[in-house]
Amino acid sequence: MKKIIAANWKMNKTLVETKDFFREFKSKVNAQENCEIIICPPFISLTEAANECKNTNIKIGAQNCHYESSGAFTGEISAEMLCDIGVQYVILGHSERRKYFFETDEMINKKIHKALENDLKVIFCVGESIEIREKNAVNEFIAEQINSGLKGVSKENLRNVIVAYEPIWAIGTGKAINSESACCVARFIKKCLADNFGSETAVLYGGSVKPENANEFVKSSDIDGLLVGGASLKAESFAEIIFAVR
Ligand code: PGA
Repeated sequence: MKKIIAANWKMNKTLVETKDFFREFKSKVNAQENCEIIICPPFISLTEAANECKNTNIKIGAQNCHYESSGAFTGEISAEMLCDIGVQYVILGHSERRKYFFETDEMINKKIHKALENDLKVIFCVGESIEIREKNAVNEFIAEQINSGLKGVSKENLRNVIVAYEPIWAIGTGKAINSESACCVARFIKKCLADNFGSETAVLYGGSVKPENANEFVKSSDIDGLLVGGASLKAESFAEIIFAVR
């Protein structure tokens, strides 16, 4: 199976910067068939990004969507709207959405259902805080996030879900988890999905991934790819991650 390398740009890049990124990035990764590449820019750049990626092997994702189809939800964007402009993926349940925008497992579950109804593929993020890791309660915590986040999702729909394991303490800190511990949690997530949903689901690792450590995570068959924040903002370093995975 091809590894999946996804970029989460968070709240970064203007439209002009987005165009510049794609010009440089496409020239570097042109004809790279070794992995699935997904790039998730902010909402305002999605149309441009989707146009830039027509007839390439790069797919475009959003970083959020609402759980209703339309209506009086000032400032929100629906899954339908994303589909309409050629977006194929959406990141849901990111720890920054949980922390700064108070998203609960229940809200994330409703968003996942709505995204799947609209044929969007979901990158569903889970991950523990440092306190939970120190209490040795990682597996229980992750199992709860998975079971609540994916409640009611059919085995068939789970084919369109990728789980991203992102320990909160490793995000944006430069302190990635060691690859053995990441594999251990990835295996646990796969077992959880197989036992409770009967599904085989891809699991990505995210948290301080850089060109230097990317290969360490993906060389194991337990980890199917990477979700990259900071190191995906420069075309050069994101391309280096893709080359490292080769
Ligand atoms: P990071 O972010 O690579 O900057 O640690 C990862 C993420 O939040 O998805």
